[in-house]
Amino acid sequence: MPDKPHYRTVIEPFIIKSVQPIRLTTREQRERVLREARYNLFRVRSQDVLIDLLTDSGTGAMSSEQWAALMRGDEAYAGSQSFQRFEAVVKKHFGFRHVIPTHQGRAAERILFSVVCKPGDVVPNNTHFDTTRANIEFQQAVAEDLVIEEGKDPTSRHPFKGNLDTEKLKALIQRVGAEKIPLCMLTITNNSGGGQPVSMANIREVKAVLEPHGIPLYFDAARFAENAYFIKLREPEFRDWSVPDIVRKMMSYADGCTVSAKKDGLVNIGGFLCTNDDLLAQQEKDLLILTEGFPTYGGLAGRDLDALAVGLEEVMEEDYLKYRLAETRYLGDHLTEIGYPIVQPPGGHAIYIDAKSLLPHIPPSHYPGQSLSIEFYLEGGIRTVEIGSVMFGKPSPDGTGEIPAAMELVRLALPRRTHTQSHIDYVLEVARVVYENRERLRGVRITRQPPFLRHFTAEFELM
Ligand code: F0G
Repeated sequence: MPDKPHYRTVIEPFIIKSVQPIRLTTREQRERVLREARYNLFRVRSQDVLIDLLTDSGTGAMSSEQWAALMRGDEAYAGSQSFQRFEAVVKKHFGFRHVIPTHQGRAAERILFSVVCKPGDVVPNNTHFDTTRANIEFQQAVAEDLVIEEGKDPTSRHPFKGNLDTEKLKALIQRVGAEKIPLCMLTITNNSGGGQPVSMANIREVKAVLEPHGIPLYFDAARFAENAYFIKLREPEFRDWSVPDIVRKMMSYADGCTVSAKKDGLVNIGGFLCTNDDLLAQQEKDLLILTEGFPTYGGLAGRDLDALAVGLEEVMEEDYLKYRLAETRYLGDHLTEIGYPIVQPPGGHAIYIDAKSLLPHIPPSHYPGQSLSIEFYLEGGIRTVEIGSVMFGKPSPDGTGEIPAAMELVRLALPRRTHTQSHIDYVLEVARVVYENRERLRGVRITRQPPFLRHFTAEFELM
């Protein structure tokens, strides 16, 4: 007998030690919930949701080691031991000189861009996540998305659809001048483009384009471990590398990073900012003290930093990453089998259904993604999120209508270590019924909306 049998089933590499009950409602109850929420799933209470796939951010389960680490939390205002443990882990794996904790990712973004951006500057990225874009625009700078063309085509099966187009980057530098570009970002993995990875080869090429111009490279590294594992699976040069070695290699090309620790930090709150630049670090810490807190806690409790120090190590374990990507792929492949058009290939943290292709009878102005999202909840109590014209539609210049978003997607994001295979099988059973009923789905109309970030609070009615 070989001592390592290769069974096909990829199991959850953990047992469940603490549980939170979930409750199946009746269709009648869900109809009432939807009416009361004005058909906006952000307005639905979590106890009325059976399977919550709204986001993978801060919604995962901590391990017993992380819960144990919480008890070690040192709440000293200055020089806390929790900070020292957290800083040591980040330095060991990421290798940056300065590590600055923040309460979540967008706080790191705000501090970074307040310090480096001037009005009129341009910040390229593969695809900016919305808070990144908003924080750049808040400094009156411009956020440019330069993802490769394959990254915008839901059907393309390119292995690294998160890659940045280096020709477009060169053209941008030519057009605006290097002095207008305070840094270039790479979002790993590319959330807004379907959770798609960036290859090591692309990271190298981007760095090679930037270096002669003295433009720093930064990662938006919220899902750094998922990206590293994709590199191991898809880039032959790294097949035999350990994940921590790949992470270290990726980071060696960068001058800094922002991190939302609510994803691959495996914690419910937290973030951080890294840099190798001493002067920048000082300016960032000065600003941190103004709004987040002293640089050894940055808006977090000491115990949060201890849980994060453990999470950053656990997330790079290969058994975990193998299960993580298998779970997402399982959902994606079975949705494809039912007939759903999804962003291919399945990414790291979520599956994105292309609602425009699924529901061609509902025009973008009637929000097909919102309609599909409502139907998933109505049919099976499943909460998803529309990433389409509700989120990104803009008023047309003549004021008579709206410019729709480029894509009408519905995201099913998987919280880490939270659901079992039977939960996913249930989602697929519901998805099958929704698919069979797709021709009966109707669009929605917005009846009330705030002036910005409308998707969080807008009200709808069914057409
Ligand atoms: N960068 C990326 C790539 C993200 O996905 C997020 C958050 C952030 C930055 C901001 O971090 O929420 O800690 O302030 N994404 C969540 C999501 C909200 O649902 O995709 P944060």
